[in-house]
Amino acid sequence: MTIVDELRALQVEALEAFGSAADLAELEYARIAYLGKKGSLTAVLRGLGSLAPEERPEVGKVSNEVRGALEAALAARKNELSGVALADRFAAEAVDVTLPGRPRFPGKRHLISQVVDEIVRVFLGLGYKIAEGPEAELDYYNFTALNHPPEHPARAATDTFYLRDLSGDGATASGESDVLLRTHTSPVQVRVMERQQPPIFILAPGKVYRRDVADPSHLPQFTQIEGLVVDEGITFGDLKGTLEHFVREIFGPERRVRLRPHFFPFTEPSAEVDVSCAMCGGSGCRSCSGEGWIEVLGSGMVDPNVFGYVGIDPERYSGFAFGMGAERIAALKYGIPDLRLFVDGDMRFLRQF
Ligand code: DAH
Repeated sequence: MTIVDELRALQVEALEAFGSAADLAELEYARIAYLGKKGSLTAVLRGLGSLAPEERPEVGKVSNEVRGALEAALAARKNELSGVALADRFAAEAVDVTLPGRPRFPGKRHLISQVVDEIVRVFLGLGYKIAEGPEAELDYYNFTALNHPPEHPARAATDTFYLRDLSGDGATASGESDVLLRTHTSPVQVRVMERQQPPIFILAPGKVYRRDVADPSHLPQFTQIEGLVVDEGITFGDLKGTLEHFVREIFGPERRVRLRPHFFPFTEPSAEVDVSCAMCGGSGCRSCSGEGWIEVLGSGMVDPNVFGYVGIDPERYSGFAFGMGAERIAALKYGIPDLRLFVDGDMRFLRQF
């Protein structure tokens, strides 16, 4: 094979390689193989020096033609392939601007947190301070110092979650060092009074636990808000005025308040507080079971026995306390028929608030 034949064969081979390169990377490999420093064409051209002088013009001419043809083919194929690459990218990144947008919901506070915040603001406005206590509580604070006798039914293991029965007296524990999940926020009253002399004006929101099966009106874990006021000369009238203010702030100025005699171990006298039904305005309807009133919280004057446990002089001081369930307040305020909606985590429900 003469060197000219060799060059022509190389041209055919290279053109084919360029043509069959599927993408820019393959084309670059082909370029290096034929036109690169160590490429086949370059190798042939290097050999020109050893040709007889009369052969050189012919071979030089052909090799220039071959190089020109290959460079032109390379450039053309490069154009073609980058066009393909661009078209591919357009296809992959295509956006259908006629599709409806995907809604993004900004995060927000859970309805119960919002209601707690709202109630907290009302009492901060009256000069109360926020107080907290542990959710894993001692029997002493949850029951004993709140004047519950040892046989009180709320102490039963069927009603209360016990974490540790230190007294070893069985499931229906009454040992003061037993550890339980607090069943109400009232133990915070005791903890505050233990370390602070009056005047005391505190609000204690927090989680509480009861061995209830979840149903429309019960949750095994829910949120209570406790209030406690102790000072000289605090009367039942102060309690009523405070609760009326609270109810109007939360439920609206047209709502009326009614106090019904009740019993709690840690208050004497005790009262349950009703709010006039928002649905019927008090005449009685299905919402309020025909009563015209809906119960919203428990309250009363601090029992002198409780003062006895914390070392506050009941001759000098008096106080009132109240406790409410935030889920219940929220349900009444927004007409929600089932407390389980608050804990199901269904975003369609939660987003509405
Ligand atoms: N601790 C009571 C309960 O969980 C609610 C309550 C009633 C709290 C009367 C009080 C109160 O502070 O005075 O049912």
